[in-house]
Amino acid sequence: MLRVLVINGPNLNRLGKREPEIYGHLTLEEINKQLSELGITLDVHIDYFQSNTEGFIIDEIHRAADQYDGVIINPAAYTHYSYAIADAIKSISLPFVEVHLSNIYVREEFRSHSVTAASCIGAITGFGSFSYSAGLHALVDHIKSSDYHKA
Ligand code: DQA
Repeated sequence: MLRVLVINGPNLNRLGKREPEIYGHLTLEEINKQLSELGITLDVHIDYFQSNTEGFIIDEIHRAADQYDGVIINPAAYTHYSYAIADAIKSISLPFVEVHLSNIYVREEFRSHSVTAASCIGAITGFGSFSYSAGLHALVDHIKSSDYHKA
């Protein structure tokens, strides 16, 4: 069974109440539950971490190194300026998929650049909670095809 960690950054604990016209009506717990159901069908164990603090996110990324096969991350606003999170992702050898609920390319100018995505194998943006599901499919496919190439 593969092990995947999902990391959510600042203000995502407010989903459901936070700007629902942009981020939808589901709470983070509901999104996580949906993803865990997909995880069961894909034979993936999923753990979840959310923090509003950059350093705690970095500590969690470091901790993930020995415990997981890959990580899905929504760095939230840190996406746009946290070189520290970008470096943390690069500091461990696991594959990361970046996800966003909203389409960061059609919003304010500052959101249209991600400094963290270049440290990831890819990014999925704009599909609401389905961005997480698509991210899990992409990550699992990547991990399995890497294993295949190693074999
Ligand atoms: C977000 C997009 C970011 O620009 C924003 O700061 C967030 C959420 C998204 O999932 O759409 O907090 O990452």
